[in-house]
Amino acid sequence: EKGPYPHYMLKEIDEQPVVIRKVISKYQDAAGELVIDSEIRACMKKADRIYIIACGTSYHAGLAGKQLIERIADIPVETHIASEFLYNRPILSPNPFFIFISQSGETADIRGVLVDIKQMGHSSLTITNVPGSTLSREATYTLLTHAGPEIAVASTKAYTAQIAVLAILAFDSARAKGIQIDVNPAHELSIAANAMEIMINHKEVMEEIVWQYLNDSHNCFFIGRGVDYYACLEGALKLKEISYIQAEGFPGGELKHGTIALIEEGTPVIALLTQAQVRANIRSNVQEVKARGAHVCMISIEGIAEKEDHVILPAVHEWLTPLVSVIPFQLIAYYAALYRGCDIDKPRNLAKSVTVE
Ligand code: M6R
Repeated sequence: EKGPYPHYMLKEIDEQPVVIRKVISKYQDAAGELVIDSEIRACMKKADRIYIIACGTSYHAGLAGKQLIERIADIPVETHIASEFLYNRPILSPNPFFIFISQSGETADIRGVLVDIKQMGHSSLTITNVPGSTLSREATYTLLTHAGPEIAVASTKAYTAQIAVLAILAFDSARAKGIQIDVNPAHELSIAANAMEIMINHKEVMEEIVWQYLNDSHNCFFIGRGVDYYACLEGALKLKEISYIQAEGFPGGELKHGTIALIEEGTPVIALLTQAQVRANIRSNVQEVKARGAHVCMISIEGIAEKEDHVILPAVHEWLTPLVSVIPFQLIAYYAALYRGCDIDKPRNLAKSVTVE
C-alpha cells in the first residue's frame, strides 16, 4: 500500500535506510558479525574469477559489486549484461563462480545465461528480492535482498539492497581469505544507512535542482569516474525511464574523446565526486564543460567537497558511497518526471519484470 505517498517510487526511495538496516540484521550472526552461508563462502574462496550477470539497474548494482569484491576481497570480477553474455561470452577462467542479480528473479535474459552455464557444470548464486523466484530455484544458491515488494517500475530500494548484500558478500569473502579489514562492516553499513536518511530528509534540495537544471531541457549528462561513473549510469537510466529526458552516464575522462561536442550553452551536466583519488580530474572535467556553456550541478561528499558544490553527501566509507550517491539521482529523476506530468510508477513501454528475451 502507498499510504500517504503519491507514488510507490517515492515510498520506495524513502524506505531505503530501513531496508539497509534490515539487510544488516538479516545477515548478522549471534555475535553481531555479518556472515554469509558457508557453502557460498567456500565457492567465493575457491573462485579464481567471478562473473556477475544482470540487466538494467541490477547490472549497475553488479558494477558496484565488482568494485566491492575486487577492492575488499581481492578476487577478479567481470560484470556482464545478460543479453550480451551469450554472444560476447568471455573466455572463462578455470574456476569461475557466477552471480546473477535480479530484483524479480524472473528476467529471461538472465535465465538464458543460467541455463547455459549450468549445462557447463558451473555452480551459481542468485541475489534476488523474491524468494522462490525462477532464478532463485534454478541457481545453486540464493541470497535474499529483503527489500520488500518493489512496485514502481523504476528500481530504487532493490538496487541499494543488492549493493548492501554484495558488500556483505565481499567482506565475508575477505575474512574467509584471511584478508585483514580494518573496519567494522556492520558499523560502516549503518553509517551509510544514516547518510541515506539524511539525503532523503533533504528532498527540497533535489527538487530545486530539477527546477534550476532540468526544467525545460531535453537532455542531460551525468559524469563521474570509477565507481562514480557506475553510479552515473544508474542516474541516467532513472532519469530516462521515468521522465523521458535523454540522459547519458559518462566517464569524465571520455568526454574529450567525442561527447563534449554535444555540450552547448545551458546543457545540464550533473557531476558526481565521492572518491578522493579522482578529485582533481573530475573538477577539471567540470571546468571543461563549463567553458563550453554547460550548466553544471556538482554532487560531492563531505571531506572532499567545496562549499559551492550543490549537493554534499554525508561522509561514508569510500567503499560504500554508491549506496548514498544514488539517492539524489533517484530524487532528481522523480521530481523531473513529476513536473513533466509523467506516469511515474508505470512509465511507457516498460514492464516491472521482463520475461521475454
Ligand atoms: O528484475 P530484474 O532486476 O532482473 O530487472 C532488471 C531490469 O529490467 C530492471 O532493473 C530495469 O532496468 C528497471 N526498470 C530499472 O529501473
